[in-house]
This record gives sequence, structure tokens and C-alpha cells, in this order.
Amino acid sequence: MEKDSAKIEKEKQLAALAAVTYIQDGQVIGLGSGSTVYYAIQEIGKLVQNGLQIKAIPTSHKTQFLAESLNIPLIDSNSVDSIDVTIDGADEFNEDLVLIKGGGGALLREKIVASMTRKKIIIADSSKKTDKLGLKFKLPIEVIPFASNLVINQLKELGGIPKIRQQTGKEFLTDQGNWILDTDFGHIEDPYSLSTSLNEIVGLVCHGIFINLADIIVLGKDETTQTITASKIV
Ligand code: A5P
Repeated sequence: MEKDSAKIEKEKQLAALAAVTYIQDGQVIGLGSGSTVYYAIQEIGKLVQNGLQIKAIPTSHKTQFLAESLNIPLIDSNSVDSIDVTIDGADEFNEDLVLIKGGGGALLREKIVASMTRKKIIIADSSKKTDKLGLKFKLPIEVIPFASNLVINQLKELGGIPKIRQQTGKEFLTDQGNWILDTDFGHIEDPYSLSTSLNEIVGLVCHGIFINLADIIVLGKDETTQTITASKIV
């Protein structure tokens, strides 16, 4: 067990370090959220300390505080029209580069930042690759608390089993003050049509299915990394 978690940490680190090499001087960088991106932000902090000139946009308060502690210059998301490179994690992904995200609850800002980005890089350890999206990981869905009952009923009609995410005995709150419904859809065979149906629900702010929001996946695999693009492993 301990050996497994050490292997996973190593893979996260390797993927993060490989992804940071895509960053160039003068660029605007999107900083994702989560334990894999943590390693990338640490590395970016070192590069900034050694003279790399970038401006970054964080996808969560947690990432913002980490970046600030490393003196990475941050800018407002509304001060630019596009982002050059974003490095983010994922909870699951399949070979079509469809992702499930939101394990950390930062899915809304992550989706916004990814939508603004030219080169979207996802970093992950080898446990995140799957051919059955949703089977192990429940789909995070951000909902306005006022609409939660309406959204829960609609998710049930779509075949989901939603559960309000809890943290220390209370509803988990996103950075926007919303709730997360972790929703069990079993194996999501058609993420495209589920995504379209979810997008139509009033009061549902964002769901964790990310389509066309990854250009490259850098995957840690044992002692090395694999780079996966739309239909090939390099
Ligand atoms: C945050 O809301 C998520 O989308 C993360 O990017 C995702 O959960 C991956 O996190 P880890 O790198 O911690 O597995």
C-alpha cells in the first residue's frame, strides 16, 4: 500500500516536471488545482526565482495562496483574452482525452481557464487512465444551493445518484459558495450526450465532464512519462 502511494507520488512529480518544460518566457500561464499540480507550481516557483518571466492565473484560492507564497506573479482572469499554457490535473481520463474533474471542487474555474487556453496540458499519475469513465469516480457537479433540490431531481431523471459533498459535517462550499453533488452515473458510456443534457439543467453551474479541454496529457508511468495527444501515445 505504502509502496503504491510512493509510486503514485513519484508519477505525479514526474508528470508535473515534464509539463513545466512547455512553459516559455513571457507567457500567461493557467495554474490548475490539486495534488499533482502542486508539484508543477513548486517547480514554476523555482523557475520564477531564477528569472522566468510569466504571469499566472490560479484556478482556486488554494492554488492562489500557494502561488503567492512562491512569489509567482498573478493576474486577474479578466485582464487577458487568452492564456498560453495551462497545467492542470484530472480525476479520470479516457483515450479520447475526455476528462472527469472536480475532485477538489475547483471545476468551474478550471473549466473557465481551460476554455481560455491555447495549450491545455493535463498531468496525471497512471491510476487516472480508464476506459470506463465514471465507474470508479463519481461525477462532481457544482450547483447553486438554492436550486439543489431541483437539480437533484433532474439528475435522478438522467439516471444519476447524487450526493451532496460534505466536509467536517457540513456541506462542502466551492470558492464560489456553491455546493457539489457527487453523482454516480455508473459507467458513463456517452460523456458527450450526458454533458449536453447536464448543460441544460437550470441551477447547475458546472459539471466535471471536460470535452475538448485537453490537448496533451502527460502521464507519469513508473520511472518515466508518456505524452498522450488526441489519438496517440508518444
Ligand atoms: C480539482 O477540482 C480537480 O479537478 C483536480 O484537478 C483533480 O481532482 C486532480 O487532482 P489530483 O491531482 O489531486 O488528483
